[in-house]
Amino acid sequence: MKAVRIHGRGGPEHLVYEDIPQPQPGPGEVLVRVYAAGVIAPELTWDETYVTSKGVSRPLPIPGHDVTGVVEAVGAGVSEPNVGTAVYGLTAFDRDGSAAEYMLALPDELTQKPLLLDYVQAAAVPLTALTVWQALFEHGSLMAGQKLLIHGAAGGVGVFAVQLAHWTGAYVIGTSSERNENFLYDLGVNEVIDYTRIRFEDAIQEVDMVLDMVGGDTLDRSWQVLKKGGVLISVANPPSVEEAKAHGVRSVWFIVEPNRLQLHQIGELIDAGKIRPVIDTVFPLSQARQAYEQGAKGHTRGKIVLRVKD
Ligand SMILES: NC(=O)c1ccc[n+]([C@@H]2O[C@H](COP(=O)([O-])OP(=O)(O)OC[C@H]3O[C@@H](n4cnc5c(N)ncnc54)[C@H](OP(=O)(O)O)[C@@H]3O)[C@@H](O)[C@H]2O)c1
Repeated sequence: MKAVRIHGRGGPEHLVYEDIPQPQPGPGEVLVRVYAAGVIAPELTWDETYVTSKGVSRPLPIPGHDVTGVVEAVGAGVSEPNVGTAVYGLTAFDRDGSAAEYMLALPDELTQKPLLLDYVQAAAVPLTALTVWQALFEHGSLMAGQKLLIHGAAGGVGVFAVQLAHWTGAYVIGTSSERNENFLYDLGVNEVIDYTRIRFEDAIQEVDMVLDMVGGDTLDRSWQVLKKGGVLISVANPPSVEEAKAHGVRSVWFIVEPNRLQLHQIGELIDAGKIRPVIDTVFPLSQARQAYEQGAKGHTRGKIVLRVKD
């Protein structure tokens, strides 16, 4: 089968499109014929990409953990999903990914693809929407009427953060450059702060929650806009526990986990027309290197997707 593998730690220049043997499902595994894969540009630098949680080295890993496609075969003991089912899912970061014609997944990582979406659209959903779901509702308990500041609102995670927060009934403030202002208002944001012109801490205060997808200095300046008892959730960098204490707020850092039930609920919201994926660019699998190069620039609107099967 055709696949993209990482031939060296570093950047997209190490991605090679090549022929490799097709995997076969072992007990408890699902073989998916991949139709499309989401691009997660930073994964080329993550430790999990090169060493499993059990410390086993992975010399030529396949990137991509957002998968959509059709179940081709299942291993012993798998009762669901059935062969022939159209599925989408987020798979674990320390196993081979979806930038390939076939991949192995676990049943708990997959659920039925939303009916309203084609495969390319569906590949833009799992990692980003699950990250937001877990941030807002598991780690943060966002409620209607609360004020939320989203850093990186126009990015892959941000577009679902805006929509799910709006759906919850929160007052949503997003940071982005001016280019994305109208786009974010269309998605449901209440206020946009152009981070290239305005320091957000001069424009807002007393927010209940900050969801940070930018990190660094943006994260460091976020403590002062929170009200006492608020929460700062970052998925970009771990926030300082000391700063949180000093400001009387809670801080959260977490890594998104595959979750079939949550992904099913997200799919229901998509099919009900409440939220939708946003696709920046679609590349063929053979151009994965260009796709990861574009993602690494940090100005993606929504998600970059690899089309694996026409
Ligand atoms: N911990 C986890 O489980 C987890 C899960 C998912 C993602 N992440 C991390 O979350 C981060 C974001 O991921 P992503 O996929 O959403 O990234 P992305 O799609 O690459 O984000 C690009 C967006 O960031 C915006 N941006 C860049 N600099 C900004 C700034 N200073 N202030 C506000 N917005 C800015 C850009 O807007 P403009 O073009 O308008 O500048 C662009 O729309 C990454 O670090 C990723 O590794 C972590």
